[in-house]
Amino acid sequence: MALQLGDEAPNFTVETTDGTLNFHEYLGDGWGILFSHPKDFTPVCTTELGEVARLKSEFDKRDTKVIGLSVDAIGSHADWVGDIKDATGQTLNFPLIADSDRTVANLYGMIHPNASDTMTVRSVFIVGPDKKLKLTITYPASTGRNFQEILRVLDSLQLSSKFPIATPVNWNDGEDVIVGVGLTDEEATEKFPKGFTKIKPYLRFTPQPNR
Ligand code: BEZ
Repeated sequence: MALQLGDEAPNFTVETTDGTLNFHEYLGDGWGILFSHPKDFTPVCTTELGEVARLKSEFDKRDTKVIGLSVDAIGSHADWVGDIKDATGQTLNFPLIADSDRTVANLYGMIHPNASDTMTVRSVFIVGPDKKLKLTITYPASTGRNFQEILRVLDSLQLSSKFPIATPVNWNDGEDVIVGVGLTDEEATEKFPKGFTKIKPYLRFTPQPNR
């Protein structure tokens, strides 16, 4: 069965552009994002890797380690890193897994045979400090991911792991959040000293609690 939210993120030890690495050890006590690429030397993937390198400080701010994967060999990755620098101006500053035997791709269900027998889809897995899967997204090979959206989800996940809240449609960091449905009005008053606005008994907005 496919991996589901709340499942433990399978661990693995694998060769990467930063040397051999154990996934859980690499993540340490923080958050992690594992994302797959269909193939080396492909245009969309090249733009994505440049963008993740550019955003590295944003992931660092969120105590989040990123790690990419492509089912090509380490020598191919090393050559591609040079192309990524030429094409995007970015130096790869996180590990890229060389999954040529598809161990990790199979563990995480990154190959969807009815899309392609050989290439991975564009999977994204967000892993929490407890090593449990907090988000999975799958994009087709032809669509580059929006990493601003992935940062946005990370902000929501991290906030809701600290406070009894949920985030509404199109929410961005700094905007009002929704009081958790499990809280009575009395409990909400206690938890959220800035108060809340009640639109419906089940829909209550409060200013972002950590701002
Ligand atoms: C790309 O990254 O551009 C790509 C990879 C595989 C299939 C189609 C596009």
